[in-house]
Amino acid sequence: MSIAEAYDTPVARQPLVPPSPPRAPDNMTAFGRIKAIRDSVIGSWGQRAYQDDIIRGRFFRRSSFILNTPDAIRHVLVDNYENYTRTPAGFRVLRPMLGEGLLIAEGRAWKHQRRTLAPAFTPRAVSTLVPHMIAATDETIAKLKAAGNAPVDLREAMQRMTLEIAGRTMFSFGMNRHGAALRDFVMEYGERLARPNFLDMLLPLSWPSPRDFARARFRKRWTQFVRLLIDERRAAGKNDDAPPRDLFDLMGAARDPETGEAFTDEQLGDEVATMILAGHETTATALFWALYLLALDPATQEQLAVEVRGTAGDGALDIERLKFTRAVVDETMRLYPPAFLIARAAAGPDVIAGMAVRKHDVIMIAPWLLHRHEKLWRDPNAFLPSRFMTATPPDRFAYLPFGVGARVCIGAHFALVEATLALARIIGAFRVGLIDQEPVMPVGVVTTQPDRSPLFTISARA
Ligand code: HEM
Repeated sequence: MSIAEAYDTPVARQPLVPPSPPRAPDNMTAFGRIKAIRDSVIGSWGQRAYQDDIIRGRFFRRSSFILNTPDAIRHVLVDNYENYTRTPAGFRVLRPMLGEGLLIAEGRAWKHQRRTLAPAFTPRAVSTLVPHMIAATDETIAKLKAAGNAPVDLREAMQRMTLEIAGRTMFSFGMNRHGAALRDFVMEYGERLARPNFLDMLLPLSWPSPRDFARARFRKRWTQFVRLLIDERRAAGKNDDAPPRDLFDLMGAARDPETGEAFTDEQLGDEVATMILAGHETTATALFWALYLLALDPATQEQLAVEVRGTAGDGALDIERLKFTRAVVDETMRLYPPAFLIARAAAGPDVIAGMAVRKHDVIMIAPWLLHRHEKLWRDPNAFLPSRFMTATPPDRFAYLPFGVGARVCIGAHFALVEATLALARIIGAFRVGLIDQEPVMPVGVVTTQPDRSPLFTISARA
């Protein structure tokens, strides 16, 4: 049966179980595991990690713990979060791009940044950014329509679109001039410098690893580029009485509610870089997997299209009524959480679930594992958006695509609005199918990326 025929077939089927990598042997050697981690962290986990509550390992002289129980996760991310920082490898990989921005900051500096930035990400502030999101999505749809029935690379299209949304919501200007350079920076960093190697994981932060020198050179070029974007945006100006147009206005006007301090220029540069980078690739990844799953599951795709048709009314989409679309986004991020791992290093001794933790031990909370854990979910590997349509939401320590606790993603609402609206508009405009039927495998490197970009067919809906 062709893909087109499948769209018209009544639903009587088993739920889709989409591709996931084979599980690693549980008894891998330390060196085998390091190699597996370099290729894909997701592929380095064995079957026990999907069944057990806590998995304890050794990494040279340190202990590592994978936590799979809600209580243990609450302890680390909520109750005693101040005892846990990012790992040395995390700092090494993120700092060259994000500087001292919110994602990296710790202690008092983090508290100051978080409370200063929080008002820029409230649902009300995000609603002022929605027109930018819609304009960029509709331009993407127009470009896809103009391509006729030619095969399309929807991964690339989603990356360009979310970058465009990040640029416009941040600066109000399109990314046609700077988008290519920004993409080149992100690709260059992802390919060469974002994969931690053995020394990155082993050396304390005070000792530069060999790759840190290349990272420092990269950082110099990158900060100059961010400066250029900010200068252009400043040159575009803003009338003092005008309402904020974008995140740059919101962040520039932000003051620490306790001290009244504004951001320095250098801090603002790091926050701008953080928001653009933390926001666009993660959301592009979520949208890619959603489109991939919907192409594999035409009946669910049709159900979503029906919801969009019923919600569109005067052409505008009411996000509150897009319940099924939102459930598809939630279920996509359960199966393919863009942030597959939240890693922490203990700053001091502690006890987790009765186990002694020493300074420098590594704690891993992996949305990838939790979201497929056999004790936490029924039919964990199946794509079933209906599980997010019930009155009881899943436990917030079992489903955490945006993390949880004090350091929960500040852009979660922004990302959910963006992904839900974009998915609704794209599936409202096109039927999406796959040309290439080979399974696409998720690879855990910074985000949960597909191992290749499959070609899709799209055909405009009447
Ligand atoms: C689907 C899209 C997204 C996913 C899956 C995601 C995921 C996450 C996760 C898991 C964390 C917590 C990390 C930790 O505890 O170590 C986080 C933090 C963060 N995210 Fe997101 N994110 C997304 C979109 C965004 C967007 C759109 C923005 C900004 C516009 C953003 C900005 C941030 C920042 C600044 C932090 C650090 C917060 C802090 O430490 O206080 N993210 N994100």
